[in-house]
Amino acid sequence: MAGPSQASLVARGLAAREARWLIEEFADEADLERAVSRRLAGEPLQYVIGHWPFRSLDLVVNENVLIPRPETEELVDVALIELARGGAPAPRILDLGCGSGAIGLALLCELEARGVLGSLVALDASSAALAVAQRNAVAHGLSRVSFVHSTWFASLDVSLRAGFDLVVSNPPYVAASEMASLDPVLAHEPRAALVAPDAEATAGFGDLAMIIAGAREWMSERASLVCEHGASQGEAAIAAARAAGFARVEDHRDLAGRARILVAACA
Ligand SMILES: C[S@@+](CC[C@H](N)C(=O)[O-])C[C@H]1O[C@@H](n2cnc3c(N)ncnc32)[C@H](O)[C@@H]1O
Repeated sequence: MAGPSQASLVARGLAAREARWLIEEFADEADLERAVSRRLAGEPLQYVIGHWPFRSLDLVVNENVLIPRPETEELVDVALIELARGGAPAPRILDLGCGSGAIGLALLCELEARGVLGSLVALDASSAALAVAQRNAVAHGLSRVSFVHSTWFASLDVSLRAGFDLVVSNPPYVAASEMASLDPVLAHEPRAALVAPDAEATAGFGDLAMIIAGAREWMSERASLVCEHGASQGEAAIAAARAAGFARVEDHRDLAGRARILVAACA
């Protein structure tokens, strides 16, 4: 028996494209009905479907991880340029606040496609997020990954000091006071993935400040730190990177022309 039509789901309030996606995703009528109800209740489509593309990867996503964003795909391009510049033959990468694993796993995968065998430490304060990242690594056959449950650098093994050729992060950078004015769909994502305390007179800059100040001792001589930040945090990010003693500090623009990606290089 045929299931509900796209038109009938649109009549219930779904956008046409979403109705088509859900029909394609859920062959079983009961599963489809559950998915439609979740979506109509406001849950992000990505969580309802349970996976989402990021660069060349299809990633499992659920309510324990941030939904990977298109602007973070641009960060991966910047990170690949930094890795090429550093020239490490088998780069060691640290992904701080890995969430679904999006950044680090995409980097490993794309390096491998270029014949470069990198390794990754994927770190997060959320064990539920680490479980998702681990599933994604296994699903994509990426084995040179270790997962670390840590509050930023606190539980990283000291033997890793001065060992990373690239540190990447898309940390929380939204101020608590800004949350109410943002897209209500953010309320479905983990608050700890989004909201950061203020620091250095800059709203939502607290986690970035800790990462920029703490990264250098974990980085090799020719390593770079590549961090996503909020559109109003560029000056604070550059000042923090200079204060931390990085030799080359740049802020890259996203496709919308806003400076959003800090690069801080040791050499
Ligand atoms: C904005 S999300 C980024 C997730 C993923 N890297 C991405 O780009 O899609 C930030 C991540 O940082 C983690 N996080 C927040 N505070 C942290 C902390 N103090 N130490 C380590 N990880 C933290 C959150 O659990 C979340 O997974």
